[in-house]
Amino acid sequence: MPNLARLLFLVLFSALGAAPLAAAEVLDAFKPGELWPDDKGVPINAHGGGILLHQGVYYWFGEHKIAGEIGNTAQVGVHVYSSTDLYDWKDRGIAFRVSDDPASEVTKGCGLERPKVIYNEKTRKFVMWFHLEFKEQGYRTARAALAVSDTPEGPYAYVGSCRLNQGIWPVNVTPEDKTPQTPEPHAGRLANAVLGQYLRRDVALGQMSRDMTLFVDDDGTGYLITSAEENATLHIHQLTTTYLGFTGQWSRVLVGDSNEAPAVFKHGGKYYMISSGTTGWRPNPGRSAVADSIFGPWTRLGNPCRGTPEQIATTFESQSTHVLPAPGKPGAFIYLGDRWRPKDAIDGRYIWLPIEWEEGKPILRWRDSWTLTDLRNKP
Ligand code: GAL
Repeated sequence: MPNLARLLFLVLFSALGAAPLAAAEVLDAFKPGELWPDDKGVPINAHGGGILLHQGVYYWFGEHKIAGEIGNTAQVGVHVYSSTDLYDWKDRGIAFRVSDDPASEVTKGCGLERPKVIYNEKTRKFVMWFHLEFKEQGYRTARAALAVSDTPEGPYAYVGSCRLNQGIWPVNVTPEDKTPQTPEPHAGRLANAVLGQYLRRDVALGQMSRDMTLFVDDDGTGYLITSAEENATLHIHQLTTTYLGFTGQWSRVLVGDSNEAPAVFKHGGKYYMISSGTTGWRPNPGRSAVADSIFGPWTRLGNPCRGTPEQIATTFESQSTHVLPAPGKPGAFIYLGDRWRPKDAIDGRYIWLPIEWEEGKPILRWRDSWTLTDLRNKP
Protein backbone atom coordinates (compact mmCIF):
# COMPACT_ATOMS: atom_id res chain seq x y z
CA MET A 1 0.00 0.00 0.00
CA PRO A 2 1.43 3.46 -0.80
CA ASN A 3 2.69 5.21 2.31
CA LEU A 4 0.05 7.96 2.33
CA ALA A 5 -2.81 5.51 1.97
CA ARG A 6 -1.26 3.35 4.68
CA LEU A 7 -1.02 6.35 6.95
CA LEU A 8 -4.66 7.39 6.43
CA PHE A 9 -5.63 3.80 7.12
CA LEU A 10 -3.64 3.82 10.35
CA VAL A 11 -5.06 7.14 11.49
CA LEU A 12 -8.56 5.76 10.90
CA PHE A 13 -7.77 2.64 12.87
CA SER A 14 -6.23 4.64 15.72
CA ALA A 15 -9.28 6.91 15.80
CA LEU A 16 -11.46 3.84 16.14
CA GLY A 17 -9.36 2.74 19.07
CA ALA A 18 -7.81 -0.21 17.29
CA ALA A 19 -4.11 -0.89 17.67
CA PRO A 20 -2.14 0.94 14.99
CA LEU A 21 -1.17 -1.55 12.32
CA ALA A 22 2.24 0.03 11.85
CA ALA A 23 3.39 -1.79 14.96
CA ALA A 24 2.69 -5.07 13.23
CA GLU A 25 4.05 -3.94 9.91
CA VAL A 26 7.75 -4.59 9.54
CA LEU A 27 9.59 -1.98 7.48
CA ASP A 28 12.39 -3.58 5.53
CA ALA A 29 13.71 -0.87 3.18
CA PHE A 30 14.73 2.78 3.15
CA LYS A 31 12.51 4.92 0.92
CA PRO A 32 14.17 8.34 0.73
CA GLY A 33 11.71 11.23 0.73
CA GLU A 34 8.63 9.16 1.63
CA LEU A 35 6.79 9.46 4.92
CA TRP A 36 8.53 7.21 7.45
CA PRO A 37 6.14 5.90 10.13
CA ASP A 38 7.36 5.15 13.64
CA ASP A 39 6.07 2.22 15.73
CA LYS A 40 2.79 4.06 16.28
CA GLY A 41 2.30 4.83 12.59
CA VAL A 42 3.15 8.51 13.10
CA PRO A 43 5.77 10.02 10.75
CA ILE A 44 9.17 10.25 12.42
CA ASN A 45 9.79 13.78 13.67
CA ALA A 46 13.56 14.16 14.12
CA HIS A 47 15.01 16.71 11.70
CA GLY A 48 18.61 17.90 11.44
CA GLY A 49 19.31 14.74 13.36
CA GLY A 50 22.09 12.44 14.36
CA ILE A 51 22.34 8.83 15.47
CA LEU A 52 24.00 7.32 18.52
CA LEU A 53 24.73 3.59 18.68
CA HIS A 54 24.69 2.44 22.30
CA GLN A 55 24.77 -1.19 23.46
CA GLY A 56 23.39 -2.48 20.18
CA VAL A 57 20.56 0.07 19.98
CA TYR A 58 20.45 3.02 17.60
CA TYR A 59 19.03 6.29 18.97
CA TRP A 60 17.94 8.90 16.43
CA PHE A 61 17.81 12.42 17.88
CA GLY A 62 16.45 15.37 15.91
CA GLU A 63 14.51 18.60 15.94
CA HIS A 64 10.83 18.04 16.69
CA LYS A 65 8.99 20.27 14.20
CA ILE A 66 5.38 21.41 14.28
CA ALA A 67 3.20 22.40 11.32
CA GLY A 68 3.59 25.70 9.51
CA GLU A 69 6.44 28.19 9.38
CA ILE A 70 6.45 28.50 13.16
CA GLY A 71 7.76 24.95 13.15
CA ASN A 72 11.13 26.31 12.03
CA THR A 73 11.58 27.52 15.62
CA ALA A 74 11.72 25.18 18.60
CA GLN A 75 8.20 24.75 19.97
CA VAL A 76 8.83 21.35 21.55
CA GLY A 77 12.48 20.30 21.62
CA VAL A 78 14.51 17.25 20.63
CA HIS A 79 12.67 14.04 19.75
CA VAL A 80 14.32 10.62 20.16
CA TYR A 81 13.55 7.25 18.55
CA SER A 82 15.24 3.89 18.99
CA SER A 83 15.82 1.00 16.62
CA THR A 84 17.83 -2.18 16.31
CA ASP A 85 17.56 -2.54 12.52
CA LEU A 86 17.50 1.12 11.31
CA TYR A 87 14.19 0.57 9.45
CA ASP A 88 11.73 0.34 12.35
CA TRP A 89 11.88 3.15 14.88
CA LYS A 90 10.19 3.22 18.26
CA ASP A 91 9.05 6.60 19.57
CA ARG A 92 10.94 7.24 22.83
CA GLY A 93 9.47 10.71 23.34
CA ILE A 94 10.99 14.13 23.86
CA ALA A 95 14.59 13.81 25.01
CA PHE A 96 15.06 17.52 25.61
CA ARG A 97 12.15 19.88 26.09
CA VAL A 98 12.24 23.64 25.54
CA SER A 99 11.34 25.71 28.59
CA ASP A 100 8.07 27.48 29.41
CA ASP A 101 10.07 30.08 31.32
CA PRO A 102 10.38 33.19 29.10
CA ALA A 103 13.65 34.05 30.86
CA SER A 104 15.29 30.75 29.89
CA GLU A 105 17.87 30.65 27.07
CA VAL A 106 15.99 27.65 25.72
CA THR A 107 12.54 29.14 26.02
CA LYS A 108 9.85 27.91 23.61
CA GLY A 109 10.38 29.69 20.29
CA CYS A 110 14.16 29.76 20.44
CA GLY A 111 16.21 28.28 17.60
CA LEU A 112 17.33 24.76 18.50
CA GLU A 113 18.99 23.04 15.56
CA ARG A 114 21.03 19.96 14.67
CA PRO A 115 21.10 18.25 18.10
CA LYS A 116 23.74 15.52 18.37
CA VAL A 117 24.38 13.09 21.23
CA ILE A 118 27.54 11.21 22.18
CA TYR A 119 28.16 8.84 25.09
CA ASN A 120 31.02 9.42 27.47
CA GLU A 121 32.50 6.10 28.62
CA LYS A 122 34.27 7.64 31.63
CA THR A 123 31.39 9.61 33.12
CA ARG A 124 28.67 7.31 31.73
CA LYS A 125 26.74 10.42 30.71
CA PHE A 126 24.93 11.01 27.44
CA VAL A 127 26.04 14.41 26.19
CA MET A 128 23.91 16.47 23.82
CA TRP A 129 25.19 19.55 22.01
CA PHE A 130 23.03 21.65 19.72
CA HIS A 131 22.99 24.95 17.86
CA LEU A 132 21.15 27.57 19.91
CA GLU A 133 19.72 30.89 18.78
CA PHE A 134 18.03 33.00 21.44
CA LYS A 135 14.36 33.65 20.76
CA GLU A 136 13.53 36.38 18.24
CA GLN A 137 17.13 37.27 17.49
CA GLY A 138 17.40 35.66 14.07
CA TYR A 139 20.72 33.83 13.72
CA ARG A 140 22.83 36.40 15.61
CA THR A 141 23.33 34.38 18.79
CA ALA A 142 25.32 31.57 17.12
CA ARG A 143 26.02 29.56 20.28
CA ALA A 144 26.64 25.93 21.13
CA ALA A 145 24.39 24.59 23.89
CA LEU A 146 24.80 21.60 26.19
CA ALA A 147 22.38 19.21 27.89
CA VAL A 148 23.19 15.98 29.76
CA SER A 149 21.39 12.78 30.72
CA ASP A 150 22.08 9.50 32.53
CA THR A 151 20.05 7.55 29.99
CA PRO A 152 20.06 7.73 26.19
CA GLU A 153 16.42 8.69 25.85
CA GLY A 154 16.65 11.42 28.48
CA PRO A 155 15.28 13.66 29.82
CA TYR A 156 18.38 15.76 29.15
CA ALA A 157 19.02 18.52 31.69
CA TYR A 158 20.06 21.88 30.28
CA VAL A 159 23.56 22.97 31.32
CA GLY A 160 24.07 26.19 29.35
CA SER A 161 25.38 27.70 26.14
CA CYS A 162 28.47 29.52 24.98
CA ARG A 163 30.50 30.99 22.17
CA LEU A 164 33.61 28.88 21.76
CA ASN A 165 37.23 29.15 22.88
CA GLN A 166 37.14 32.83 23.73
CA GLY A 167 40.63 34.35 23.88
CA ILE A 168 42.30 31.34 22.24
CA TRP A 169 43.85 31.27 18.78
CA PRO A 170 43.43 28.14 16.63
CA VAL A 171 46.26 25.60 16.37
CA ASN A 172 46.76 26.52 12.71
CA VAL A 173 46.76 30.31 13.11
CA THR A 174 49.21 32.16 10.86
CA PRO A 175 51.02 35.43 11.66
CA GLU A 176 48.88 37.10 8.96
CA ASP A 177 45.69 35.88 10.65
CA LYS A 178 46.73 37.66 13.82
CA THR A 179 47.77 40.93 12.21
CA PRO A 180 45.04 43.31 11.09
CA GLN A 181 45.75 45.22 7.91
CA THR A 182 45.46 48.97 8.40
CA PRO A 183 42.98 50.13 7.44
CA GLU A 184 40.95 46.90 7.62
CA PRO A 185 39.38 46.36 4.20
CA HIS A 186 35.71 45.38 4.24
CA ALA A 187 35.86 43.07 1.34
CA GLY A 188 32.76 40.91 1.81
CA ARG A 189 32.03 37.85 3.89
CA LEU A 190 34.41 35.35 2.33
CA ALA A 191 37.31 37.74 1.86
CA ASN A 192 36.87 38.92 5.46
CA ALA A 193 37.11 35.31 6.59
CA VAL A 194 40.23 34.73 4.51
CA LEU A 195 41.76 37.95 5.85
CA GLY A 196 41.06 36.72 9.39
CA GLN A 197 38.79 39.62 10.31
CA TYR A 198 36.01 37.49 11.82
CA LEU A 199 38.59 35.25 13.48
CA ARG A 200 40.21 38.24 15.22
CA ARG A 201 36.84 39.75 16.13
CA ASP A 202 35.66 36.47 17.65
CA VAL A 203 38.85 35.62 19.53
CA ALA A 204 37.72 38.48 21.70
CA LEU A 205 34.05 37.44 21.79
CA GLY A 206 34.28 33.67 21.54
CA GLN A 207 33.90 31.99 18.15
CA MET A 208 30.47 31.62 16.53
CA SER A 209 28.83 28.20 16.28
CA ARG A 210 25.91 27.57 13.92
CA ASP A 211 25.40 24.32 11.92
CA MET A 212 27.25 21.73 13.95
CA THR A 213 27.97 18.08 14.47
CA LEU A 214 29.88 15.93 16.94
CA PHE A 215 32.51 13.33 16.18
CA VAL A 216 34.21 10.84 18.50
CA ASP A 217 37.58 9.57 17.33
CA ASP A 218 38.88 6.00 17.81
CA ASP A 219 40.76 7.09 20.95
CA GLY A 220 37.56 8.50 22.50
CA THR A 221 38.46 12.14 21.90
CA GLY A 222 35.38 14.19 21.03
CA TYR A 223 35.12 17.12 18.65
CA LEU A 224 32.48 19.72 17.86
CA ILE A 225 32.63 20.71 14.19
CA THR A 226 30.77 23.89 13.40
CA SER A 227 30.07 26.70 10.94
CA ALA A 228 31.70 29.87 12.19
CA GLU A 229 33.01 33.24 10.99
CA GLU A 230 29.57 34.22 9.62
CA ASN A 231 29.33 30.71 8.10
CA ALA A 232 32.41 31.27 5.93
CA THR A 233 34.75 28.85 7.72
CA LEU A 234 34.40 25.60 9.63
CA HIS A 235 35.88 25.32 13.10
CA ILE A 236 36.83 22.03 14.73
CA HIS A 237 36.93 22.26 18.53
CA GLN A 238 38.32 19.47 20.69
CA LEU A 239 36.10 18.55 23.64
CA THR A 240 37.45 17.82 27.11
CA THR A 241 37.51 14.18 28.27
CA THR A 242 34.02 14.59 29.78
CA TYR A 243 32.71 16.14 26.49
CA LEU A 244 31.23 18.93 28.62
CA GLY A 245 33.72 21.62 27.65
CA PHE A 246 36.59 22.56 25.36
CA THR A 247 40.33 21.94 25.71
CA GLY A 248 41.38 25.10 23.87
CA GLN A 249 42.72 23.03 20.98
CA TRP A 250 40.86 24.05 17.87
CA SER A 251 41.39 24.50 14.17
CA ARG A 252 40.00 26.54 11.25
CA VAL A 253 39.39 24.40 8.20
CA LEU A 254 38.29 25.01 4.61
CA VAL A 255 38.73 28.73 5.27
CA GLY A 256 36.32 30.88 3.26
CA ASP A 257 34.59 27.86 1.65
CA SER A 258 31.18 28.58 3.28
CA ASN A 259 30.37 25.10 4.50
CA GLU A 260 27.27 24.24 6.51
CA ALA A 261 25.66 21.02 7.67
CA PRO A 262 28.96 19.17 8.35
CA ALA A 263 28.88 15.39 8.83
CA VAL A 264 32.18 13.72 9.69
CA PHE A 265 33.17 10.06 9.55
CA LYS A 266 36.39 8.06 9.60
CA HIS A 267 37.64 5.12 7.63
CA GLY A 268 41.05 3.59 7.01
CA GLY A 269 42.71 6.21 9.20
CA LYS A 270 41.29 9.10 7.16
CA TYR A 271 38.64 11.63 8.13
CA TYR A 272 35.88 12.36 5.62
CA MET A 273 33.33 15.13 5.61
CA ILE A 274 30.12 15.71 3.71
CA SER A 275 28.71 19.22 3.94
CA SER A 276 26.58 21.75 2.09
CA GLY A 277 26.82 25.32 0.91
CA THR A 278 24.96 28.14 2.62
CA THR A 279 21.53 28.70 1.07
CA GLY A 280 19.33 28.40 4.15
CA TRP A 281 16.48 25.89 3.77
CA ARG A 282 16.98 25.70 -0.01
CA PRO A 283 19.15 22.79 -1.09
CA ASN A 284 22.45 23.34 -2.85
CA PRO A 285 25.29 21.26 -4.31
CA GLY A 286 26.88 19.06 -1.65
CA ARG A 287 30.57 19.01 -0.89
CA SER A 288 33.00 16.40 0.37
CA ALA A 289 36.50 16.54 1.82
CA VAL A 290 39.19 14.31 3.30
CA ALA A 291 41.98 14.79 5.85
CA ASP A 292 44.72 12.75 7.49
CA SER A 293 44.33 14.69 10.73
CA ILE A 294 41.02 15.96 12.06
CA PHE A 295 42.52 19.43 12.49
CA GLY A 296 43.43 19.43 8.81
CA PRO A 297 44.51 20.38 6.31
CA TRP A 298 41.31 19.16 4.64
CA THR A 299 41.39 18.46 0.91
CA ARG A 300 38.28 19.19 -1.14
CA LEU A 301 36.91 16.13 -2.96
CA GLY A 302 34.11 17.95 -4.78
CA ASN A 303 30.40 17.31 -5.04
CA PRO A 304 29.70 13.72 -3.91
CA CYS A 305 26.45 13.49 -5.89
CA ARG A 306 26.11 11.55 -9.13
CA GLY A 307 22.93 11.71 -11.21
CA THR A 308 20.95 14.26 -13.18
CA PRO A 309 22.05 17.93 -13.19
CA GLU A 310 19.10 18.69 -10.90
CA GLN A 311 20.09 15.94 -8.44
CA ILE A 312 23.71 17.09 -8.45
CA ALA A 313 22.70 20.74 -7.97
CA THR A 314 20.43 19.98 -4.99
CA THR A 315 22.03 16.94 -3.31
CA PHE A 316 18.84 15.04 -4.20
CA GLU A 317 16.86 17.91 -2.67
CA SER A 318 18.54 17.45 0.67
CA GLN A 319 21.10 18.87 3.06
CA SER A 320 23.49 16.66 5.01
CA THR A 321 23.07 16.11 8.72
CA HIS A 322 24.94 12.92 9.66
CA VAL A 323 26.89 9.98 8.27
CA LEU A 324 26.26 6.67 10.00
CA PRO A 325 28.67 3.72 9.94
CA ALA A 326 26.59 0.78 8.68
CA PRO A 327 25.98 -2.07 11.10
CA GLY A 328 28.52 -4.86 10.79
CA LYS A 329 30.08 -3.56 7.57
CA PRO A 330 33.40 -1.82 8.11
CA GLY A 331 33.83 0.84 5.46
CA ALA A 332 30.13 1.04 4.62
CA PHE A 333 28.36 4.26 5.52
CA ILE A 334 24.92 5.81 5.23
CA TYR A 335 24.30 9.45 4.29
CA LEU A 336 21.51 11.10 6.30
CA GLY A 337 20.07 14.32 4.93
CA ASP A 338 17.06 16.56 5.40
CA ARG A 339 14.62 17.60 2.73
CA TRP A 340 13.41 20.75 4.48
CA ARG A 341 9.86 22.04 4.12
CA PRO A 342 10.16 25.54 5.63
CA LYS A 343 6.50 26.47 4.87
CA ASP A 344 5.30 23.42 6.78
CA ALA A 345 8.29 22.37 8.85
CA ILE A 346 6.76 19.13 10.16
CA ASP A 347 6.54 17.82 6.59
CA GLY A 348 10.34 17.79 6.19
CA ARG A 349 11.54 14.44 4.85
CA TYR A 350 14.59 12.27 5.39
CA ILE A 351 16.95 11.36 2.59
CA TRP A 352 19.04 8.37 3.58
CA LEU A 353 21.32 7.01 0.87
CA PRO A 354 24.15 4.49 0.80
CA ILE A 355 27.61 5.97 0.43
CA GLU A 356 29.46 4.41 -2.46
CA TRP A 357 33.17 4.80 -3.11
CA GLU A 358 34.69 6.01 -6.37
CA GLU A 359 38.47 6.40 -6.54
CA GLY A 360 38.63 6.88 -2.80
CA LYS A 361 35.83 9.46 -2.77
CA PRO A 362 32.48 9.08 -1.04
CA ILE A 363 29.71 9.15 -3.67
CA LEU A 364 25.92 9.39 -3.48
CA ARG A 365 23.43 8.11 -6.03
CA TRP A 366 19.66 8.28 -5.84
CA ARG A 367 17.65 5.18 -4.90
CA ASP A 368 13.86 5.06 -4.66
CA SER A 369 14.21 2.17 -2.26
CA TRP A 370 17.21 0.32 -0.85
CA THR A 371 18.29 -2.00 1.95
CA LEU A 372 21.35 -2.56 4.10
CA THR A 373 22.33 -5.47 1.85
CA ASP A 374 22.95 -2.90 -0.93
CA LEU A 375 25.78 -1.36 1.09
CA ARG A 376 29.29 -2.18 0.01
CA ASN A 377 32.47 -2.02 2.06
CA LYS A 378 35.05 0.51 0.96
CA PRO A 379 37.32 -1.21 -1.54
C1 GAL B 1 20.40 26.04 6.88
C2 GAL B 1 20.91 25.27 8.08
C3 GAL B 1 19.72 24.85 8.90
C4 GAL B 1 18.98 26.12 9.29
C5 GAL B 1 18.59 26.91 8.05
C6 GAL B 1 17.89 28.21 8.38
O1 GAL B 1 21.46 26.44 6.06
O2 GAL B 1 21.64 24.17 7.66
O3 GAL B 1 20.16 24.12 10.02
O4 GAL B 1 19.79 26.91 10.10
O5 GAL B 1 19.74 27.19 7.29
O6 GAL B 1 17.67 28.97 7.24
